[in-house]
Amino acid sequence: MKDQIVFFNGDYLEKEAVKISPEDRGFLFGDGVYEVIKTYQGKMFEFDAHLSRLERSLNGLEIQFEELDNLKSICHRLSCENKLDNQDAAIYIEITRGAARRTHCFPGKPVAPAIYMMINPCPSTKKEQGKGVKIIFRPDIRWARCDIKSVALVANVLATQKAVENDAAETVFIRDGAVTEGASSNFFAVFDDVLYTHPESHYILSGITRKVVLELCYEIGVRVKQYPILSSRLDTADEMMVVSTTKEIIPVIQYDDKKVGDGTPGPVARELQQAFDRATAKL
Ligand SMILES: Cc1ncc(COP(=O)(O)O)c(C=O)c1O
Repeated sequence: MKDQIVFFNGDYLEKEAVKISPEDRGFLFGDGVYEVIKTYQGKMFEFDAHLSRLERSLNGLEIQFEELDNLKSICHRLSCENKLDNQDAAIYIEITRGAARRTHCFPGKPVAPAIYMMINPCPSTKKEQGKGVKIIFRPDIRWARCDIKSVALVANVLATQKAVENDAAETVFIRDGAVTEGASSNFFAVFDDVLYTHPESHYILSGITRKVVLELCYEIGVRVKQYPILSSRLDTADEMMVVSTTKEIIPVIQYDDKKVGDGTPGPVARELQQAFDRATAKL
């Protein structure tokens, strides 16, 4: 995006003018957290849920950040300054432990956390929603605190690259014989008219779209079980889907070289996406 205005440590400035310290602990250690919030025509979706999760992530890393209350107005200003208040966009917020001499333990003298925020247009995923996508499954090699939305994403980066190399839209992880979640999404599967997803735990990110999907299931009368899905059962799934803030609800029609159901998007995914569209249209 040309002439993009971002927010960095208290200032609004052009992205090229941002100077991040080489001693920033986000840069040195991946010692920071982030959030991604979608705006629909300038209106933020599930802002409070994203803010609460950001607070939980900060607490998880013991980063003291006192200015959470200011984030909403910064989001609004970024949306307006970048003239993205009349289209769909994604706001990125990153907070790191700040800059200090490199040592693994927390800085001896407290330093101010660093904060960076930007907004970018968010491309529509209507095409993928309509046609469905292929995914691949891979072992979950991530740490055991996947509930913290940490910027240390190298395992997710490697997994996403494997998806690209296999013409797939997403890599979904398997840990100890159970499906956990995607590299940047939560995973759902339908067996005999019941929608299954991994329960909240340290092994998945508590996705905001996951939460919304569970609420919509209640509204439209889809039965849900928050149980781990055994990888040995995957070939009997009627439907699969991956969901996230920027993807919304994407039906999976193929995994590895196998068809899901009859190889077309299923009725539960379609009904959920319609309900999701109604929820975002009400904003
Ligand atoms: C690992 C992981 N799981 C799940 C999600 C979905 O979370 P949300 O619906 O809050 O975007 C994401 C989003 O980026 C993610 O990175």
